[in-house]
Amino acid sequence: MNARHRAPVPSLTATPSRRPVRKAVVPAAGLGTRFLPATKATPKEMLPVVDKPAIQYVVEEAAAAGLDDILMITGRHKRAIEDHFDHAFELEQTLAAKGDTARLDAVRDPARLADIHHLRQGEPLGLGHAVLCARRHVGDQPFAVLLGDDLMDPRETLLNRMLDVRDRHAGSVVALLEVPAEQVHLYGCAAVEPTSEDGVVRVTGLVEKPSSETAPSRYAVIGRYVLDPAVFDVLERTPPGRGGEIQLTDALQDLAAAGTVHGVLFSGLRYDTGDKVEYLRTVVRLACERPDLGAEFAAWLRDFVSGLEPGRTERDRPAA
Ligand code: G1P
Repeated sequence: MNARHRAPVPSLTATPSRRPVRKAVVPAAGLGTRFLPATKATPKEMLPVVDKPAIQYVVEEAAAAGLDDILMITGRHKRAIEDHFDHAFELEQTLAAKGDTARLDAVRDPARLADIHHLRQGEPLGLGHAVLCARRHVGDQPFAVLLGDDLMDPRETLLNRMLDVRDRHAGSVVALLEVPAEQVHLYGCAAVEPTSEDGVVRVTGLVEKPSSETAPSRYAVIGRYVLDPAVFDVLERTPPGRGGEIQLTDALQDLAAAGTVHGVLFSGLRYDTGDKVEYLRTVVRLACERPDLGAEFAAWLRDFVSGLEPGRTERDRPAA
């Protein structure tokens, strides 16, 4: 972890900006290799979760928290994301002519959620680099970062709590989930100290994907951040870290060392759609909760599960 050896960052001594947060950055440039071949010609962010692409849930979450300017950091082969958040003139006209207002709304909604911008990362140099690409768009205001693989249950208020902590404490805010020791190597991991406030900690150090033996705690950084613009100066000089990539965690370690990072503890419902089994769980769970599909689907699911023995698939079951 190179960040530890770097000198303190002078800009951190400046008064941190305290303007309300309006902009969100959504890094969406990854190759999605875990979902090949589905992601050969379709961005992983566009994989459907029931009947909406995963990334729409993320944009809806940002919009619900009052973030009305969203910058997607994309790469090649991500045109489908741009098209999804744009108008689809012919489709809209056809649905309007039929008077199909429900589907017309479903088609129009993504473009109405927020003011959505797209920027290509160019080179896949890591999450820290993706965030740095947003510098010109974000300017000197605090901003949120939402990672597309983490879907928050729409009933959760995590992002609002984080924005509230930013309002009161300035600096940057990360979201922390306590995970089993054997999972810390999958996440950025935080060293923390309690504050006087329940569910809010001071982050004193961060390390990207440590082994369970070297991890400072079991608090994993999950994919929601509220960042002070001071992070950009730090990212400019953050050398490649773990995996040869410029890590956002390394830049945040510098800010944490300067005492300007808080953590909001999260123990609610979160779905990791970057993992195949979790993705399947997410689809099943959200389908069961849908008012229009839930009853029928859950009835089938109950029946299906009751006839399912471990290691046996539907195809192996004798015909009725
Ligand atoms: C990224 C971050 C990591 C964070 C994780 C949350 O890792 O680098 O610090 O804990 O997102 O999902 P990735 O999952 O992209 O490998």
